[in-house]
Amino acid sequence: ADAIRINPSILAADFVNMQAELGRIRAADFVHVDVMDNHFVPNLTFGPQMVERIQATSPVPLDVHLMISDVDRWAPGYAELGAASVTFHLEAATDPVRLARRLRGIGARAGVAVKPATAVDGLFDVLDEFDQILVMTVEPGFGGQSFMADQMPKLRRLSDEARRRGSQVWLQVDGGISEATIAQAAEAGADTFVAGSAVFGADDPDDAIASLRSGAAA
Ligand code: DX5
Ligand code: ZN
Repeated sequence: ADAIRINPSILAADFVNMQAELGRIRAADFVHVDVMDNHFVPNLTFGPQMVERIQATSPVPLDVHLMISDVDRWAPGYAELGAASVTFHLEAATDPVRLARRLRGIGARAGVAVKPATAVDGLFDVLDEFDQILVMTVEPGFGGQSFMADQMPKLRRLSDEARRRGSQVWLQVDGGISEATIAQAAEAGADTFVAGSAVFGADDPDDAIASLRSGAAA
């Protein structure tokens, strides 16, 4: 991959000091915003009202990751509030291509995510309908879990397929990304890296972002 993006996940930030936390990640490419509904995943974060405030406050554009059911109903609203990208789960979508077109029509980058047990092969023929594909490297729902290296073959096949087809789609990984694991994911073809605890658990989040960036480029 030529360009590398580091997207810190505010799931690991202090929720009651969100404005200050957003100001600590100025070296980020996008802020990763995890929306959970306690239905698609067994955890709950926040919804459109909070994300609208984050959008108004963040100096860095938003990369919204929807871990929710009923994406047809909710995903377009996140594009309308101005998120730079909106990623929904393939497992939650009735017609992923139609929803991606709708998100692009509103002006957002359209993303689709897959859980560890979900295959990506069905996406090969429609890669260009999406701006980014998120290969989860943990079971979605919680920060601080261990990186699943067994997802690397899936990522590599996706990346080979994208290259073969001349696709511009970004390949994102999310879960357990740290200085110790980022090189593996980069080597398997990822170009966009979400990191929660590795960034907000550091004394200086911007330094952690820089270290991740060099780890991905190595
Ligand atoms: C997990 C979320 C991730 C999470 C990653 O379901 O989608 O974005 O914040 O956290 P870390 O980097 O700590 O694994
Ligand atoms: Zn996420």
